Amino acid sequence: MTETIVTITTFDEAKDVYRHKDLRQALYDAGEVVMADVLVNLHGAAHRDRRRLENRLFRRDTVERYEHELFPPIIDATLQPHLDAGRAELVDLGHQLMMNLAASTAGVDRPLGTPAETARLYDYLMRFIEGATLAHYTGDREAKAAEVRAKLEAFDTEFVEPSVQRRLKLIAAHEPLPHDVLSVLLTNQDQLDLPREVVVREVAFYLLAGAHTSATAFTRVTHHLFRWLEAHPDEADAVHDRLFVQRCTHETIRLQPSSPVAARWALTDIELRSGRKIPAGAKVIIDLLAVNRDPAVFGDRADEFDPRREIADGVAPYGLSFGSGMHACIGQDLAAGYAFTDGEDVAEHLFGLVPEAVQRLFDHGARPDPHDPPEMDDSTARPYFGRYPIVFHR
Ligand code: HEM
Repeated sequence: MTETIVTITTFDEAKDVYRHKDLRQALYDAGEVVMADVLVNLHGAAHRDRRRLENRLFRRDTVERYEHELFPPIIDATLQPHLDAGRAELVDLGHQLMMNLAASTAGVDRPLGTPAETARLYDYLMRFIEGATLAHYTGDREAKAAEVRAKLEAFDTEFVEPSVQRRLKLIAAHEPLPHDVLSVLLTNQDQLDLPREVVVREVAFYLLAGAHTSATAFTRVTHHLFRWLEAHPDEADAVHDRLFVQRCTHETIRLQPSSPVAARWALTDIELRSGRKIPAGAKVIIDLLAVNRDPAVFGDRADEFDPRREIADGVAPYGLSFGSGMHACIGQDLAAGYAFTDGEDVAEHLFGLVPEAVQRLFDHGARPDPHDPPEMDDSTARPYFGRYPIVFHR
């Protein structure tokens, strides 16, 4: 029997699909090796119960603590060797930066604190990304899945187990736990009752959900800003305006969502508010590239990169790139901050970690390397940069 596919290209229908309780996650079926039973793949009560517990980690006070206290020293430490060298490669730098943050959100300790240990964690992260995006892998998928499975086991032994043991000791001693996903899972094990491999995958999933999407956005925003500067040489100072850099981040994420589609399975026959009928068993594909350029919401010039565009009330400046409804990205405020509202105090504003990291590059005079142009990644069908050399001019 051929599969019925329903493609959604308008903003209003997409919101309706995201909200519908009889539409179940379908995006990661091929990435099960990392994604089986992790939050984004759960449905109904199982999803609600785990989400409710993990939500506590992403409240405004925690986001503020990350942005103001935890992340600035991580950005500085990660950036310093590149500043000393006068150059950097953005794709790698973005992953290193965002992994360092995501490791603390996920609850992956690095007890040795050595560069070699961080390099090994980075290698795990890259394999997990390949596992989660197997559907787009252009090489031998079965061999890659086996490699990722072995990596998960090694990741458990090297990183998860010591992190679990440290937290169990803290629990036994009635001492405070770090604010991270692993601590939440361990303290609520009586309610969640998760097998060990699910705990390992949930931690691995947070590592990659936090790092890969933000790292991809980091490179793309920087690229858009370079192009903006080329086109507007008289506006060179705009890159030192943090609100402008945040708007460029939102506009980049709208035009280039980290995941260009969302997908759901219809569990029953469904009728959307628009009147569109979706038969049970159909796969619903939300085409985010189209949805985020819907002229009914973003106007006639929706295709253009315009960080100063006016956005209607009730519409997020990054469109639906963080999803919506029950699976809406748990880390969106952490990654992209809050949209600035007129009258708000800039000193109180949270800009988000991607804008803050990009800002730091421009504060150090980042420019594309004139002798080494960027290249695309040809190991995947998706449009990722493979290499993006930059230089710093002070
Ligand atoms: C630019 C950065 C990011 C983008 C574009 C992004 C995008 C998304 C999208 C589109 C979804 C929804 C998937 C769906 O409905 O099928 C999602 C879910 C999720 N994201 Fe993000 N994300 C980003 C950063 C982060 C960060 C920093 C974290 C963690 C700290 C994170 C953790 C998650 C989790 C746990 C979910 C699953 C939520 C659930 O199913 O209830 N993301 N993200």
